[in-house]
Amino acid sequence: MQSYILPPVLLILTANVAAAQNTGCGSSLSSVSQTCQNSGSVCHSLQAQCWQAASCEFLASIATANDAVTVDLLAAANGNQLQLNLTGNRWIGVGFSMSGGMANSAVVHCFHDANDTVQAKLTYNIPNAHFNIGWQNVDQAPLNVQSASYVNNELHCVVKLQKKFTIQSQAFDLNQPVTLIAATGPLRNNTIAMHDRDPAISKQKASF
Ligand code: HEM
Repeated sequence: MQSYILPPVLLILTANVAAAQNTGCGSSLSSVSQTCQNSGSVCHSLQAQCWQAASCEFLASIATANDAVTVDLLAAANGNQLQLNLTGNRWIGVGFSMSGGMANSAVVHCFHDANDTVQAKLTYNIPNAHFNIGWQNVDQAPLNVQSASYVNNELHCVVKLQKKFTIQSQAFDLNQPVTLIAATGPLRNNTIAMHDRDPAISKQKASF
C-alpha cells in the first residue's frame, strides 16, 4: 500500500476491493486467472495464455453482459517477469481492433494519474498510423466505470462498455469478431504515451 493520502471515493473503492479479496471474490490476478479458465470470459494478456500457468502480471478479462461487455483490467505492480512498475503514472489497456493491429482500435485503459487517483477511460487509436487521440477527445458515454483502485500493489479497473458505439466515424459492434490487443506504458499529462513493453495481439478474433 502506498503512503499517500487517498481521496474519500478511492478509500471506499479500495475498502470494497480489499473486502472482496478477503472473500476470494475475483479481485486478484490469480482469481481472475481462474475466471479465464472456467467461464465464458475471453481473456487477453501481454504474456500469451498467462492464466493457464497462473503467472499473469497483466490480464484483461472480457465477458458479455447483455448489450454491453464487462471488461476487467488487472495488473500487478513490480511483477516478476515484465517488471511492470505501476507505482508511477502508468496505463494498462485492452483494445478492440478493427485492423488486426494497433490502428483503428477502441481502447479501454486503466491508469494511475498524476493525483494518485485511478481512472478508467475509453480512448481510440486512429486508423493508418500509430497514434492514440487521448481519452479527453472521446465521448465517454458508452463506458460505465464500476470500480477503479490501486490496492495491495494491484492496479484494477472494472467497466461496462456498450457493444455498439462510434468513435470519430468508426462504428464498433462487439457482436462482430474483433482482434484483441493489450499494452502498457507511461502516462503523460493524464494521457497515454507510447507503450514500453511489447504489445500483444490475440491469435484469434473474439465476438461478444
Ligand atoms: C500515443 C500512444 C501510442 C503510440 C505513440 C504507439 C506507437 C506504436 C508504434 C510506433 C508501434 C510500432 C511498433 C513499435 O515500434 O513498437 C506500435 C505498435 C503497436 N501498438 Fe502502439 N502506440 C500507442 C498506443 C497504443 C495503445 C493504447 C495500444 C493498445 C492498447 C497499442 C497497441 C499496439 C500494438 C498491438 C502494436 C503492434 C501491432 C502494430 O504495429 O499495429 N498502442 N505502437
